[in-house]
Amino acid sequence: MNRRRKGMIAVRQLVYCSIALMAGWMSGSLKAQTIIPVVTSNNALVLEAGKNKDLSVIYFGKKLANEKEYQLVSSVYKQTGDYTDVLNAAYTSSGSRNLVEPAISVVHADGNRSLDLRYVKHEQKQLADGITQYSILLKDPVYDFEVTLHYKVYPHQDVIEQWSVIKHREKGNVVLEKFASANLHLKAKGFWLNQYHGDWAKEMQPEESKITHGIKTIDSKLGTRTNIFQPSVFMVSLNKPATEDEGTVLYGSLAYSGNFRTDLELDYQDNLRIISGINNYASAYNLKPGEEFVTPSFIHLLSSKGKGFASRQLHDWARNYRLLDGKGDRLTLLNNWEATYFDFNESKLKELLRDTKKLGVDLFLLDDGWFANKYPRNDDKAGLGDWAENKSKLPNGVASLVKEATANGVKFGIWVEPEMVNPKSELYEKHPDWVVRQPARQEHYFRNQLVLDLSNPVVQDFVFGVVDNLFTKNPDLAYIKWDCNAVIYNAHSAYLGKQQSHFYIEYMRGLYNVLQRLRAKYPKVPMMLCSGGGGRVDYEALKYFTEYWPSDNTDPLERIFIQWEYSYFYPAIASANHVTDWGKQPIKFRTDVAMMGKLGFDIVVSHLNEKDLAFCQNAIKEYNAFRHLVYQGDQYRLSDPRKGSVASMAFLSKDQSEGVLFNYLVNNRYGEGSVYPVQLKGLDPSAMYTLKELSLYPGVKSSIDTSKQYSGEFLMTVGFNPEVSGSRTSVVLKLEKVK
Ligand code: DGJ
Repeated sequence: MNRRRKGMIAVRQLVYCSIALMAGWMSGSLKAQTIIPVVTSNNALVLEAGKNKDLSVIYFGKKLANEKEYQLVSSVYKQTGDYTDVLNAAYTSSGSRNLVEPAISVVHADGNRSLDLRYVKHEQKQLADGITQYSILLKDPVYDFEVTLHYKVYPHQDVIEQWSVIKHREKGNVVLEKFASANLHLKAKGFWLNQYHGDWAKEMQPEESKITHGIKTIDSKLGTRTNIFQPSVFMVSLNKPATEDEGTVLYGSLAYSGNFRTDLELDYQDNLRIISGINNYASAYNLKPGEEFVTPSFIHLLSSKGKGFASRQLHDWARNYRLLDGKGDRLTLLNNWEATYFDFNESKLKELLRDTKKLGVDLFLLDDGWFANKYPRNDDKAGLGDWAENKSKLPNGVASLVKEATANGVKFGIWVEPEMVNPKSELYEKHPDWVVRQPARQEHYFRNQLVLDLSNPVVQDFVFGVVDNLFTKNPDLAYIKWDCNAVIYNAHSAYLGKQQSHFYIEYMRGLYNVLQRLRAKYPKVPMMLCSGGGGRVDYEALKYFTEYWPSDNTDPLERIFIQWEYSYFYPAIASANHVTDWGKQPIKFRTDVAMMGKLGFDIVVSHLNEKDLAFCQNAIKEYNAFRHLVYQGDQYRLSDPRKGSVASMAFLSKDQSEGVLFNYLVNNRYGEGSVYPVQLKGLDPSAMYTLKELSLYPGVKSSIDTSKQYSGEFLMTVGFNPEVSGSRTSVVLKLEKVK
């Protein structure tokens, strides 16, 4: 008998043997197995420590009523054998039996590269709000090396947050070559990956493809910002591509703002292994004895009711547990970036403050260009890093603007980009060692700037100080826009000396340290996470920020598509949408699109004609009356702009009594419009509803008959026609339940 065939028989025997063992466990005769069901309202991720104490994922899917049946799962799959016993490991180690992509790989203090993690014990902690945290300790039987896997379960939202803590007590440092946060294992008859790619002003471009055998990696190596090219968010559909309302889909996202890596490996058994964590690229980590390496969280959610349910669950989770002030309100604003760029002075800004009041928004946001004297910040080539007010533009400082804003009855916010420096700055001259650069190599710039070395605690103090000084000098400052435009080239830290492979990780630790310090001192002040577009949107950063900037592209037509894709993962309350002069659409269209999130304006108010101004003023008033629906309601994607000429999005109150519907024409070809009705979702079928058009341009009469009543059943089965056409390119409707 040849060796391969012998091997197959051995494998088969092993499979039968484990089925027999399972039966034994079922009857209670075998104590060796430990089953750990990590359960949410709808799903179960079931782990098992078998007789060899290998911790495996034995099931991930819809919750079963009888927990004992999870042990039968593997017996009904007749896939080929496992040559290793660890193909479905809950955290795959390397250098021992494993033959596939590992979650962790190490070099021990004695130079040995093998690791074999076995289950030791687990505990279950009940936290507030029904949240449960499972912690499972795994140890290597040969080396004093351990990993604790944490699973934090938010049952009502079906969200599981996973991270790992790595530790050892060897006689010297252990090098961590890979150190993932989580390792999932899924079974299905085929998998479809929905991933995103992009570039500046072109964020969140979706791509869906069937996953083939081998490894598909989504990653970032940009250092400061995860996702100008690829965000860490993704979806995997099981068995068939999921739709809004049908199919099984897993949403995944690494809560990390730095380099990440997610491997999706379709193994030889046709199962999908997903391993996600910090990107180990150029980042081997020397772990000291006793030191804990805590990975970021991998956040995932499984839905067997399609993408719509998944995103509503994720939005609820984010608002309740993650996004700063997720259950709160937001400030509407007027930003001066596109209105003035760098060309402003105190009197111009004072005019804009009056315009802020006239427009009717809550806050004026002063953007880039207000600082630096030796090398004034009059364009993006100089001054970054020198955070003193520019004396010729602002002779009386920011303080006089804050005062003036208060006198006008509006709040005042300010732009900073504290992690960055222009080579043409006093900061660079004084502290070249604070800058991320290779001293012996030519510098390479992203937007004429370089990144400060946040691995250095002194630099962390400086960055903290930039924001802290602004608040100390201007206690009434009400808002911060935190920008981060550059990526990291020539990664090198003067501070880290010989530990250069720690740089990317220490940069992020430094950033989070600064943000934690700021939030400890200023817990509530709203801050926008901006990054020259959607460069830094992730669920770790959003612990510290109230909103994010999806893209510099504010062309409303493009924004419909960009915001649509973000909406799968992030709630609308976090999406800062500004009305600007980008694109060819009228002011009404631009405003309607921006209203599907946190509304802001970045226009020259004094250039608006009388009717446009009146339109904006009225739209803001109407938005203020319905914004609670956009911020806290359930979001339904009704008509996909990628699939037809009309895009429709709805936000409904949780009690189904009111909602707001946004409809847009996304294809200007002759005769295009809402030929068919749009079917609503999430309504009370037996209730009666009326629909009224909002956001009307002065002098325009709506064609929607407000007096008509429709049952929820009718609106969800037959639908409603918003009458979108070439002459009605955007239509906002308020839905109300008849009392
Ligand atoms: C990039 C941001 O995305 C813009 O909104 C603006 O703040 C500029 N930076 C300022 O330099």
